[in-house]
Amino acid sequence: MRETELSGALLAWYDRHAREMPWRTGPAERRAGLRPDPYRVWLSEVMLQQTTVAAVRDYFERFTTRWPTVADLAAAEDGDVMGEWAGLGYYARARNLLKCARAVVAEHGGTFPDSREGLLSLPGIGPYTAGAVAAIAFDRAEVVVDGNVERVMARLHDVHTPLPAAKPELTALAEALTPAARPGDYAQAVMDLGATICTPRNPACGICPWRDPCAARMAGTAPELPKKTPKKPKPTRLGIAYVARRADGAWLLERRPDKGLLGGMLGWPGSDWGEAPQDAPPLQADWQALEAEALHTFTHFHLRLAVRVAHVPEGANPERGSFLPPAAFRPSDLPTVMRKAFDLARPALETP
Ligand code: ADE
Repeated sequence: MRETELSGALLAWYDRHAREMPWRTGPAERRAGLRPDPYRVWLSEVMLQQTTVAAVRDYFERFTTRWPTVADLAAAEDGDVMGEWAGLGYYARARNLLKCARAVVAEHGGTFPDSREGLLSLPGIGPYTAGAVAAIAFDRAEVVVDGNVERVMARLHDVHTPLPAAKPELTALAEALTPAARPGDYAQAVMDLGATICTPRNPACGICPWRDPCAARMAGTAPELPKKTPKKPKPTRLGIAYVARRADGAWLLERRPDKGLLGGMLGWPGSDWGEAPQDAPPLQADWQALEAEALHTFTHFHLRLAVRVAHVPEGANPERGSFLPPAAFRPSDLPTVMRKAFDLARPALETP
């Protein structure tokens, strides 16, 4: 099959089977010439990096209800945005999101640039996001390559080079297939194909619109592609978190510095994380060590976070962090690892 036949077959499939998502325009709207809102496309693409569609839906609804336009988001308080992002992970995305929204308002009058190059000039927008927003929101013929697309291309062309070395080759193959007509729909069609039919395990080749031209299906290799170079095992780091509750019910919390892991997020004061963490209590108290630890896996390491708890009196004067009254503390503002520590500590601190 020629490239245009391939993309045509996939677009015909997409017209019938596209997944509905709150940031997409449906087939009827698209036929009427309606384009999706670039703000919603951009927000969804940032959220979808490293995160599944299922996990993103609720966050997307909350964000767009609270901040319906890029100007609303640009005017938000940093802490409110970080709090809404809590639980999604990769918190640099949220910090960059705000930077980008503010640049769109300050430098572009609140309108997103409509080309890949224009989008790339914004802070926090890299090649993937620029390509995806240019294609999906502005129907530019840009190649969009995520994990789904890599898997589909590796199978369609029976590529056995392991990832990540295969990336340039798979990108070139994806580029050659990107059509001039409906490139935004096409980009999302490949992603939907990868998410629903050309799945990592047990691909449903029998109902695939690319069943006949697929080289891996012919060779019987589809389920084992793409090959991957084994990853290095993750090391385990140790840390200590200190959860203090004041007699009036207030919790001692600390906002983490903008740079680094969990940057800009609220959390429990604690030690550095490493092989042998040093005690680092934020104030003098009768600290009790909990038996259970909060266990959490980050991109490059596992963390075993020991939790210490203390009741402290009204006049307590912490060296780090500040007390948040119960009415101002939303556990849902915490990143997941800090939330796990809170869930362990709470029973011991229920009655101040
Ligand atoms: N993954 C990343 N962006 C996506 C999109 N627009 N549709 C489906 N899956 C995606």
